[in-house]
Amino acid sequence: MNTQAHGAQPVWPAADFSRVPYEVFTDPRIYRLEMERLFRGPVWNYLAMECEIPQWGDYVTNWVGDTQVIVSRSRDGSIHAVENSCAHRGARLADKVRGNARRHVCPYHLWTYSLSGDLASVPFEKGHKGKGGMPPCFDKKDHGLRKLRIATHGGLVFGTYSDDTEPLPAYLGPHSLTQIDRLLMQRTPKVIGYLRQKIAGNWKLYNENVRDPYHASLLHLFQVSFGIQTPAMKGGIKLDKDGKNTWNHSILSDDDAQGLRDLDRDYADSGKLMPDLQMHDPAMLEVPLDLQDGYKTTLLSMFPSLVVAQVDNTYAIRHLRPKGPDAVELHITYLGFEGDTDEDLHNRLLQVNLIGPAGYISMEDGEALRLVQLGLKTRHGEHSVLEMGGTGELHDTDYLSQEISIRGFWTHYHQLMGFEPAATEKV
Ligand code: FES
Ligand SMILES: [Fe+2]
Repeated sequence: MNTQAHGAQPVWPAADFSRVPYEVFTDPRIYRLEMERLFRGPVWNYLAMECEIPQWGDYVTNWVGDTQVIVSRSRDGSIHAVENSCAHRGARLADKVRGNARRHVCPYHLWTYSLSGDLASVPFEKGHKGKGGMPPCFDKKDHGLRKLRIATHGGLVFGTYSDDTEPLPAYLGPHSLTQIDRLLMQRTPKVIGYLRQKIAGNWKLYNENVRDPYHASLLHLFQVSFGIQTPAMKGGIKLDKDGKNTWNHSILSDDDAQGLRDLDRDYADSGKLMPDLQMHDPAMLEVPLDLQDGYKTTLLSMFPSLVVAQVDNTYAIRHLRPKGPDAVELHITYLGFEGDTDEDLHNRLLQVNLIGPAGYISMEDGEALRLVQLGLKTRHGEHSVLEMGGTGELHDTDYLSQEISIRGFWTHYHQLMGFEPAATEKV
């Protein structure tokens, strides 16, 4: 079947989203539609951690899709987010990643805005010595910054452009709420560092990647050799009601070593597994899990651009910033907790070596996504295949080798994008 897009309307050949048209990763028209219909649509976009802006005037800049916003705290403690673009002639207002400012002043003609985005003053609004100035009908109320609606949960700040976005707890769903409570609300988080990773692939490829525990013990074979993550481990996925948000988790158990020995034949044909491989310095692998609940890896993927991740004792907020159809910046905020000892901090930083642009895991993911983007770009009218773990209805699993949660992402994506219905029969 030819699945080539008509206009910016890709053809989805399977109703269960087990086929994804490759155009969605390459077509600039689809990318523009995503910025409008997803990021400015009925979604909650991650903006910041509350602990990044504790004081009056503290601000950070971030990206909603490819639009930059300023997130700041007002005198009364409320949090505001506004587009970082002047209502006069469009200049960027804040040109730093973070800082403290009690108003937003445009550097060009000094139009000045409150932190909540209202236009407070315009130099020479009434002219000079009775001459010039703005026309009498000019009303500052009509020329504020573009504002986002804000909601917070567990110290995470979200913003939405749409009045139709459902309340944040309903949007996050029960598994996300439970995990945010487990990861971020039992202790008081604090930022211990940031990393950025530029990936030469479409932003949705990362959403697929992080919902895909199938690859974790294949692309990242060293994880199997070192017992970090194996397909024999207990674990699975849980989806929210829309399929858009996924909780992937793996759990340590006493059977892991035997389970790994039983897996030999699954790797035999590839010739890639080196079970005897050892780290010269295994310190990174020997950090005890501080929550002591057995969860080795928990990845909470929230539509469209947020991952709250626990990989061993590394806690991170991963945020996607699309940079065109074929590039994305992954911004990672690493978290520790108030009361951490020096040893705790040392261990968390040790395990940062797994994630980030030079992280053992993440550099493999970045490279895999680059290869996918390169490989699919000329396959016009074709599609990928997502059948691992079963086709048909979306459902939770108690196994890790699955692509069902990726189909959940596409189910919601397709709906929000307003594409024509997917085919009723699978190809
Ligand atoms: S562009 Fe901002 S004040 Fe003129
Ligand atoms: Fe990975």
